[in-house]
Amino acid sequence: MNISIFGLGYVGCVGAACLAKLGHTVIGVDVNENKVRLINEGKPTIIEEGIAELCAEAHAKGLMSATMDVREAVHATDVSFIVVGTPSSKEGHLNLNYIFAVAKQIGEALAHKLPIINDQSPIGGTLRHIVAIRSTVLPGTNEKVGEIIAEASGLVRGKDFTIVSNPEFLREGTSVKDYFNPPLTLVGADMPEAESVFREIYKGIEAEFICTDIRVAEMMKYVNNTYHALKIVFGNEVGNICKELNIDSHKVMEIFCKDKQLNISPYYFKPGFAYGGSCLPKDMKALKTLAHDHYVDVPVIEAIGESNELQKRRAVQLIMAQGLRKVGILGLSFKSGTDDLRCSPIVDVVESLLGKGFEIRIYDKNVKVSELTGTNKDFIMAKIPHLQHFVTDDLETVCRESDVLVVTNKEKDFAEVLTKYPNKVVVDLVRQWKEVDYEGHYEGLSWGDINANRSAQQSVTKQDFRQTEF
Ligand SMILES: NC(=O)c1ccc[n+]([C@@H]2O[C@H](COP(=O)([O-])OP(=O)(O)OC[C@H]3O[C@@H](n4cnc5c(N)ncnc54)[C@H](O)[C@@H]3O)[C@@H](O)[C@H]2O)c1
Repeated sequence: MNISIFGLGYVGCVGAACLAKLGHTVIGVDVNENKVRLINEGKPTIIEEGIAELCAEAHAKGLMSATMDVREAVHATDVSFIVVGTPSSKEGHLNLNYIFAVAKQIGEALAHKLPIINDQSPIGGTLRHIVAIRSTVLPGTNEKVGEIIAEASGLVRGKDFTIVSNPEFLREGTSVKDYFNPPLTLVGADMPEAESVFREIYKGIEAEFICTDIRVAEMMKYVNNTYHALKIVFGNEVGNICKELNIDSHKVMEIFCKDKQLNISPYYFKPGFAYGGSCLPKDMKALKTLAHDHYVDVPVIEAIGESNELQKRRAVQLIMAQGLRKVGILGLSFKSGTDDLRCSPIVDVVESLLGKGFEIRIYDKNVKVSELTGTNKDFIMAKIPHLQHFVTDDLETVCRESDVLVVTNKEKDFAEVLTKYPNKVVVDLVRQWKEVDYEGHYEGLSWGDINANRSAQQSVTKQDFRQTEF
């Protein structure tokens, strides 16, 4: 395939050489004359293991060249990758000026490019060109780049051209190896033709190919990198506590990483409601206090509890934002299949709503108020002393007599019964349904109303959170 790459820096140079290794013909474009010269001499623009050999090989085979002429590069290729820098502004915002400048140039060049009608091109129909954003950009950039190209070219997105988001996951130092062995190949696209072209481009790479929504693809790099940073900081904070206690932190983390069921696993990663129960809140507090007692600052570990409280406040705000007073709570214990109410996060939400004068009805098949004993009973009586007035063992009554139904755990019978009450507002704290098929109004705690493409959190502002007190 014929591919142009805008930006011959770190990622662009590695991408160009590796795509040529995969058999594609690559034209690099850069505003830096020296980088263009180096590529045309078969030399890399950066220092990295294996890159010099790849550049020399691509040059010798006539598969890699470079130019400063945008029109020449766009007209000679089917796909253009944008890999220019996206530095931070002084205030920490992402500076997309280079991306937008390249988009405008590509658009101007596309205005004069004829539709591809030869058999050599993988792009068919009315599509003239595919632009791929490889730089790290925030969600929404793909759309904006499309608007810039449409304006500069007078062409129509989805007919004449399209833009895919194809984030880069390589790490400096091992970039060539990473390029050929990525954790996965991710493409955000809105046209099936673009997906097939990208499957073809990366045919030689043995990694799962995932084609998804453009905004999901745009979000991934930030989620990945933030998580990587979090892992580093978490490991360091654990290490700092361990050092004070004369415990070998590396032994601790080695064993930590051996648990592939709960620690290094997809478990606990899905957005949902706050954590609770008799263990997590207590043990979090104990470790935090231990660190304090040894004068070790652990801001990330400390922030975990604060973030958890915020999720409860978010739930209260979301329920209040519906503007209806009769609220049915489907599930009171801290998770399904137990009657343990200790530190159940929904108990805090109910306590807060009662204090604000909401009419509450609660159903939890596992919670029998008269049978509660010990610390479980003590906890709930301290929070909601008249619990028995709100709890019923009839799910249908709660559904019928409430305007807002709050789903707090994944009991199977909820979904079934709720379909009988299509005129309610369902506030789902745990993503009870993967595909939302509720006929009434549906609000997810940390995800949008998928059907209406409207996010619940839009109505819940930071200011609202601060004003909510338990
Ligand atoms: N470096 C990494 O390890 C890495 C890994 C993954 C993703 N990324 C992302 O990839 C992007 C590029 O990063 P990089 O490290 O390669 O940046 P870089 O600064 O090394 O290279 C950017 C190149 O773009 C060129 N350029 C600027 N404006 C141009 C224009 N109008 N036309 C053509 N070329 C132009 C510059 O001259 C430079 O050569 C960034 O968004 C970065 O966040 C970087």
